[in-house]
Amino acid sequence: MIYLDNSSTTHFKPLCVKWACLQGLGKYSVNPHRSGNNIVTKAEEKVYECRELLAEYVGTTPDNVILTSGCTMSINIALNGTIKKDGHIITTVFEHNSVLRTLEHLHSTHNITYTTLEPNKNGQISTKDIINAIKPNTYMVIINHVSNVTGDTQNIDAIGKICKKNKLIFLVDGAQSIGHENIDMQKMNINMLTMSGHKGIFAPQGIGALLLNDVKVTPLIYGGTGTYSDKIKQPTDIPDGIESGTPNIVGILGMLAGLKYTIKKQKYINEKIKQLTAYTRDQLNNIKNLNLYSPINNAGIISFTIKGIDSSEVSNILDEKYHIATRSGLQCAPLIHKYLGTTKNGLTRVSLNQKNSKQQIDKLIYAIKEIIQDINKR
Ligand SMILES: Cc1ncc(COP(=O)(O)O)c(C=O)c1O
Repeated sequence: MIYLDNSSTTHFKPLCVKWACLQGLGKYSVNPHRSGNNIVTKAEEKVYECRELLAEYVGTTPDNVILTSGCTMSINIALNGTIKKDGHIITTVFEHNSVLRTLEHLHSTHNITYTTLEPNKNGQISTKDIINAIKPNTYMVIINHVSNVTGDTQNIDAIGKICKKNKLIFLVDGAQSIGHENIDMQKMNINMLTMSGHKGIFAPQGIGALLLNDVKVTPLIYGGTGTYSDKIKQPTDIPDGIESGTPNIVGILGMLAGLKYTIKKQKYINEKIKQLTAYTRDQLNNIKNLNLYSPINNAGIISFTIKGIDSSEVSNILDEKYHIATRSGLQCAPLIHKYLGTTKNGLTRVSLNQKNSKQQIDKLIYAIKEIIQDINKR
């Protein structure tokens, strides 16, 4: 199989990640912060090491790292945990349903209203539009860093400056940017960064983080933290008070190993994805009746439509006849499809990682050309 669906999840997991996960099921299969013995202390040290490395990677501090089940949970904690009843939020049409559905829910429970900004013709959310959308009750800006549909990448630095100036909480959905883009929460004035481990940093599914900088959140879930066990009121400490329940030690160890791997190979990974994305775009661009929707981007996301055929059918044929895995449809981000006019047929998305090769892309291009020839015969 040729796997070109890396922005859903990276199929390739380095050996060090697999080994770390095995250790989570073996040597470290204990309950950190819940009992006191030598191996628990060692597991706690590993959990802390994961917080430290993540914090260093994105420019915050270890006590601001909340370990979650993934980006969806991080977004839910971030939005619920900073809610201002009757408040207004500025966001974009690029957002994933993990943002949009949460906002819809908060609209019905807390009368939150929100404005969804559209990009300019270069796929950029303009800072002017953000400034113009600010209302007296606006308290937050939510921006999808790299679109999982098109790969459009926003200027987080510039938007962060506006948020700081206007005292707005700045939330960045880093699901597709972590591992691909440099992020410095302090320099970029990001207050909350949400991420999954299983995409750009090769961790297993079911682990991620909410990273904080100069902002407090309240818990979304309540329960045991292993601290203040004599009290039945939820502790307010961060991160403990936000992370109730037994931690996912397998996932945490996997994420730590995946992040170490990413950092070690960062230059090579970035360069390889950059080259391969350019090559893929160039090849697709030369095909008649194929429309490209992705600019050059560091995350390796390339989406397209083929005239006269639904995107799901393209993915199905690629899978069944050519054993090439892609993703089609609306990619859980309905508003950007509405904006692009692709709601009916969706987009076929190819997403690359450093393990893909030119030869694989050549096979993809060959397959697409055959699919188009077959359509013309219909
Ligand atoms: C931009 C974006 N945000 C949020 C998510 C949700 O991530 P997860 O399913 O890992 O919770 C995704 C997943 O594809 C995404 O692409």
